[in-house]
Amino acid sequence: MCFFHPYDPLFCSKRRIFAAMKAERTYFSRVLLEWFGTHGRDLPWRHTHDAYLIWLSEIILQQTRVEQGRGYWERFVRRWPTVELLASATEDEVLREWQGLGYYSRARNLHAAAQQVVAAGGFPRSVEGLLRLRGVGAYTAAAIASFAFGVPAAVVDGNVYRVLSRYFGIDVPIDSTQGHRLFAALAGEMIPADRPADYNAAIMDFGAMQCTPTSPACAECPLAESCAARGAGRVAELPVKQGRTRVQERRLIYIYIRCKGEVAIRKRGAGDFWQGLWEPVLVEEPAAAQGGSDVAEVMKEAAVVAKDVVHVLSHRRLLCDFYLAEPKEKPALPAGYTWVKEQALDDYAKPRLIERLLERLTA
Ligand code: ADE
Repeated sequence: MCFFHPYDPLFCSKRRIFAAMKAERTYFSRVLLEWFGTHGRDLPWRHTHDAYLIWLSEIILQQTRVEQGRGYWERFVRRWPTVELLASATEDEVLREWQGLGYYSRARNLHAAAQQVVAAGGFPRSVEGLLRLRGVGAYTAAAIASFAFGVPAAVVDGNVYRVLSRYFGIDVPIDSTQGHRLFAALAGEMIPADRPADYNAAIMDFGAMQCTPTSPACAECPLAESCAARGAGRVAELPVKQGRTRVQERRLIYIYIRCKGEVAIRKRGAGDFWQGLWEPVLVEEPAAAQGGSDVAEVMKEAAVVAKDVVHVLSHRRLLCDFYLAEPKEKPALPAGYTWVKEQALDDYAKPRLIERLLERLTA
């Protein structure tokens, strides 16, 4: 049953939103929790209050879909069942286990944060404390605090922006400072003090399954009657974003140099993408001098394996060529590269793009 419809479709009236907000809270959260009782996803990390297991799931799910993240979570938990064990692993081992998930800074932060937690003697129980852990931002801190410790901290992510902007009819851009403040305050008002964990899980699932970006199931929505966007026929317009971040294009030219059962690779350093992952010899420009090395010579005899392979990262579009060279003698390599047994290549954590290119060598 509809409680009441607090707004005409007069979008973006902050005063009205906040005036009606408190009265609306009980209805909104009750309907969400009822919906969650029947439709909520049964996920393994929702059966525990162990902060380590919950934190691990949240880091994995930061930029990963639930279906993909679940297998990784299960493998991590099997291999490192406690935060102490994860902290005592090497960064390379963690990166290797993370391989294929992308956004590798998450894996490095995961490892560093595990060591912070062990050094502190356990997980912080407050949002402020959790925010001090590497890789933990506002969303993740609220998720851990509510799921592990029952703190009434509201999560705010893309799903939450969508549900709140549509239900309350708010067209303030979600990527503006004003939008961040407004939605954080609104989310904080909606969370019920007695069931913060269920409420956070409910709004996550509602945004992911019911109030979806492109084809929301409004006909079967329990909030449809009092949804401002639905009432105004503006569901598809919300949420509003003011601008996209620019995507930078980078051309990468790799030579996979194989000689006497070994291949030349290096570990990528700080200050660029894929930090800590391994790659074959990289030439950013075709004729680039590789300071004192024989790479330019080797390049002359190299065979093309793949050209113009596109790989998209969050803020970059990579355009990649991949060559194979098999010189009879080992050439001098540019600084930072090393020879490793080709058979042992699996032990080195590599970006997904490199994995894809290596598959072409055996295809
Ligand atoms: N359940 C708990 N945390 C979650 C998340 N970040 N995304 C989806 N479902 C979750």
